[in-house]
Amino acid sequence: MAEFKEAPAGASVMTQATVWLENRFPTAFTEYKKHMSEYYAPKNFNVWYFFGSLAMLVLVIQIVTGIFLVMHYKPDAAKAFESVEYIMRDVPWGWLIRYMHSTGASAFFIVVYLHMWRGLIYGSYQKPRELVWIFGVAIFLCLMAEAFMGYLLPWGQMSYWGAQVIINLFAAIPFIGPDLSLLIRGDYVVGDATLNRFFAFHVIAVPLVLIGLVVAHLLTLHDVGSNNPDGVDIKKHKDPKTGIPLDGVAFHPYYTVHDLIGVGVFLVIFAAILFFAPEMGGYFLEYNNFIPADPLKTPAHIAPVWYFTPFYSMLRAVTDQMVNVFVAIVAIAAVLTVLRAKLSGVGKVAVLVAALVVIALLKVFDAKFWGVVVMGVAVMVLFPLPWLDKSPVRSIRYRPGWNKWLYAIFIVNFLVLGYLGIKPPSEIGTIVSQVGTLFYFGFFLLMPWWSRIGTFKPVPERVNFHPH
Ligand code: HEM
Repeated sequence: MAEFKEAPAGASVMTQATVWLENRFPTAFTEYKKHMSEYYAPKNFNVWYFFGSLAMLVLVIQIVTGIFLVMHYKPDAAKAFESVEYIMRDVPWGWLIRYMHSTGASAFFIVVYLHMWRGLIYGSYQKPRELVWIFGVAIFLCLMAEAFMGYLLPWGQMSYWGAQVIINLFAAIPFIGPDLSLLIRGDYVVGDATLNRFFAFHVIAVPLVLIGLVVAHLLTLHDVGSNNPDGVDIKKHKDPKTGIPLDGVAFHPYYTVHDLIGVGVFLVIFAAILFFAPEMGGYFLEYNNFIPADPLKTPAHIAPVWYFTPFYSMLRAVTDQMVNVFVAIVAIAAVLTVLRAKLSGVGKVAVLVAALVVIALLKVFDAKFWGVVVMGVAVMVLFPLPWLDKSPVRSIRYRPGWNKWLYAIFIVNFLVLGYLGIKPPSEIGTIVSQVGTLFYFGFFLLMPWWSRIGTFKPVPERVNFHPH
């Protein structure tokens, strides 16, 4: 046990209370130093670095508003819709709490997408931050599950039919599919059992996992230290006397105060949307969801909420013709590997056999199943990103100039896929989303090749910092 400290004679009540606490709970003090007052973050953070703290803020908003919603919401298929209407009309400030939560869901995805984008352009996933990234992707998956299950709870038409469509997708998985979708639904159709289990997962199970993952995300980040827009390792240059990185500043007070600016701007925008356009023209809360769920009336057009639509587009892009394109890609990749890679005779045969097996599987199972696979892999492909990127530098600033164009096309492509996923299917839309899907996967899967080519700019020894 550590030695008891004594407050100096004549110390203020505050100092005495602090010493009292420190003697009984020293961990709180050492952890505060480790993660706040003595956590040295690079001094060149820019606006992209606001989104981590903003994600934490939105997480808190969602949890707090969620608690108040649960006080009045009824997870019962016969009462759920009316309980939400009751919250909106009769509960004092209920409308505000509900809109904060529903608009908060979209805000969460906006903030998290921007946060991921920052990680992408500054190579923050590269060594030694692989685990920070992996926990981040796991958070993203949890967030998707959380939003999907939450959307069923108001029991509107879109809640009902959206869940119906997505759960039915699982039925396309060979062998286990039908039983799996039955297990998820708890019934042969989406019903009370589905609502109850989604409620349980949405209010307690997934949030607990989410919070655990966020803690792991931050602990791993603080163990290895933050990256920065230059992608320079600030630990290489430390003050010989203090051991503090020369380009680092204490997280508290410098970045706590800095992050407050981000919080202020975010809250102004968030409040403006809340008060003037909480449904955002049907994008944050679809109009059909103000009609109670009716199992006998299928809406003409069922679309998920905007944050799922890039992935939904990729699902819809997988038609029979697209499967033929996959077959051609696998065949070409196998032939190129056999011709170009230095493989033994057995190795070459193994590559050809593996390609034939994949092609057979592609043709045996139907396109709907492969659509589900493509949608799932579109998220999963983010996990191995630290190993796909072979670039010798982290930040886009020092990568070959054309990389900026490539990243710009990547983001435009992602937005186009998102737009197409909102719209009803069309012939041209399907072709565009097929090209977009190939580009999306090409970006990641060909990264080991394209990330090494071109002329890299010299990375500075110290960060670029202009006091402002
Ligand atoms: C609830 C969601 C999330 C929360 C609350 C959160 C929180 C944070 C915070 C507070 C930081 C440190 C401040 C900053 O660098 O901005 C951070 C860093 C980071 N996050 Fe997240 N994050 C979340 C989701 C994600 C996701 C989905 C990914 C990626 C898939 C991700 C990847 C990263 C990376 C790579 C860093 C290190 C950035 C750097 O050092 O340059 N995070 N996160």
